[in-house]
Amino acid sequence: MTDTKNPLGLKKIHHVEFYVGNAKQAEFYYRKAFGFSRAAYRGLETGDREVTSYVLRQNRVNFVLTTPLVPEHPAAEHIKQHGDGVRDIAFQVEDADHAYNEAVKRGAKGVTEPRDLTDANGTVRHAAIATYGDTIHSFYSYQASTTPSAETAATPPIQGGESGAATAAQQERVYAYSGAFLPGFTEQLVPGEEVGIQLVDHIVGNVELGKMNYWCDFYRDVMGFERYITFDDKDISTEYSALMSIVMSDGGHNIKFPINEPAEGKGGKSQIQEYIDFYRSAGAQHIALLCKDILHTVAKLQENGIEFLRVPDTYYEEVLDRVGPIDEDIKDLHRLGILVDRDDEGYLLQIFTKPVEDRPTVFYEILQRKGCKGFGKGNFKALFVSIEEEQRRRGNL
Ligand code: FE2
Repeated sequence: MTDTKNPLGLKKIHHVEFYVGNAKQAEFYYRKAFGFSRAAYRGLETGDREVTSYVLRQNRVNFVLTTPLVPEHPAAEHIKQHGDGVRDIAFQVEDADHAYNEAVKRGAKGVTEPRDLTDANGTVRHAAIATYGDTIHSFYSYQASTTPSAETAATPPIQGGESGAATAAQQERVYAYSGAFLPGFTEQLVPGEEVGIQLVDHIVGNVELGKMNYWCDFYRDVMGFERYITFDDKDISTEYSALMSIVMSDGGHNIKFPINEPAEGKGGKSQIQEYIDFYRSAGAQHIALLCKDILHTVAKLQENGIEFLRVPDTYYEEVLDRVGPIDEDIKDLHRLGILVDRDDEGYLLQIFTKPVEDRPTVFYEILQRKGCKGFGKGNFKALFVSIEEEQRRRGNL
């Protein structure tokens, strides 16, 4: 049965997988600087001959850092083209077979047909479709959608199912997995000192000039998302740089994917075009991580050496006139470089890191919402002036 509001049966973001040049060193960075803990591992020691992955966890955020051990692995080509970047924004779904078949029926390009992933801890069902650039959406399900009889529940899962068509046997199968992450991973606990990152709030995709509506239609037609907020180049334009953005969201507004495209600035290169030039395609631009006490989280991140964009000091002289009273002391926000914006329902506090790799591509947003459902529109101008300053220093404006 297809729910028109949630046709693929998406439950939540299961994890974000990055393809990186050196996963061991990237893991150290996310653990020591961003406060994640290592939860699981796969690699040579677990019988993987072609790839190593580390699973990093902080509250409800799961990142997977994957590096190829051989040049034939597809991650090697991905890194050659894009540098370190997001390969997979993976969902937990009610039923991976249904999610895949429905998505393909609605026009998605299939990447991996539904299959079982099995180890000694049980079985998980997996499939994947393509989205912008070389990015994919995996679907993972732990439980078949049909309720099995006691007899079929006791039957061990069949391994190596490769067919996209759901057979009667698959329909009756029940999936239960008790391992640390997914089949193939072994539990490996290396605690980090957490900084209060709680949840992925949104993940922004940068797409090529003229492609924003195409990808918004993709999220509407394939995933059943709706347009949540639209920003045009009047909202997001400075002297040089401009972009357009539409926020796509599931019906419950739990999963939010803004889609950006470059717009003509007054003679300079859009920050979105800079990303696309260096990423060599469309791709994930930033991941916004929600926290409950941004003053604490950002202070810890800065102490750990994370570099953030800073807006001019004059921002703090004017901001309270724009947003009205807030609970926090403006001096603390100024000291840490945190920005404020307000909508009808409340306000938000946000700050953006510089790119976290040498190519000016992926970065992070640290965000606290106090009722506000927006994305910081009131901060775009100040922020983009400081992004342009960075672009100028890179010779890319
Ligand atoms: Fe954002």
